Amino acid sequence: MFDFIGKVVLITGGSRGLGKAMSEGFARAGAKVIVSSRKIEACKAVAKSINEAGGEAIALAANVGSTQDLDQLKDDALAHYGHVDILVNNAGINIAMGALTDLSPDAFDKMYQVNQRGPWYLASRLAPHMAENGGGVVINFLSVSALKPPAFMGFYAATKAALDALTKVMAQEWAPMNIRVNAIAPGSYYSDLTDGAIAAIPGFEEGIIDANLIKRIAASDEILNPVFYLAGESYTTGITLTADGGMMVK
Ligand SMILES: NC(=O)c1ccc[n+]([C@@H]2O[C@H](COP(=O)([O-])OP(=O)(O)OC[C@H]3O[C@@H](n4cnc5c(N)ncnc54)[C@H](OP(=O)(O)O)[C@@H]3O)[C@@H](O)[C@H]2O)c1
Repeated sequence: MFDFIGKVVLITGGSRGLGKAMSEGFARAGAKVIVSSRKIEACKAVAKSINEAGGEAIALAANVGSTQDLDQLKDDALAHYGHVDILVNNAGINIAMGALTDLSPDAFDKMYQVNQRGPWYLASRLAPHMAENGGGVVINFLSVSALKPPAFMGFYAATKAALDALTKVMAQEWAPMNIRVNAIAPGSYYSDLTDGAIAAIPGFEEGIIDANLIKRIAASDEILNPVFYLAGESYTTGITLTADGGMMVK
């Protein structure tokens, strides 16, 4: 159903978890994929397997917490392909789980840098180039916790909620440039990040399963179709699409 032939897609955090599934999925759908994360070897491995399977991908390293890295990423992406049609701001971290009384200002700053400042910075530096090329698409990765914030995940929920607000502002400011901007708010799917939460918070896994209607945690590739929907041609901008198994507030 989805055809991204000729489109250039830049995916931050494209080397692991859902990011890897998206890199491979966009390539299967005909896109030229820029796989980015901090560790260049991991990105190269994903790009290599895509190219060996007949797709097209390159690897570019960048730490989303560094504006210098993001400037370089933008320059290298444009130097290689000439344009970026779809930006997926997927890289995100959850390094500070616990009671608000116990969390540190350093963790607060780092979470904001990666989960909110980086996605805003990269999108806003690419937007003028997308506009020059006739338009584009930005997809920001939130979490359902941005909309239904749980105890002991305060910084994660807050940084993702902040990105939700910026998504709505980007959509308004960039609609005249023919750039559609949407967010996706997944519930839990199995990944390194989820494994960390399961290890850190007793009862986390059981709690998630109990709180959603489908009564299981998703596999990462179950989030692909909602991403493709937002990335494809559509009349949709400024929304936050949940893919959370019907998460109910407890
Ligand atoms: N897993 C879930 O259940 C879940 C639920 C809701 C929302 N989300 C959101 O979905 C997105 C992807 O999550 P995931 O679980 O698939 O993540 P993951 O398995 O932990 O993978 C994270 C990816 O981001 C990269 N990354 C981490 N820190 C980075 C940084 N500072 N700069 C650039 N790249 C960085 C990692 O590669 P390197 O280590 O090489 O940098 C990796 O490719 C995140 O935004 C997360 O908040 C996840």
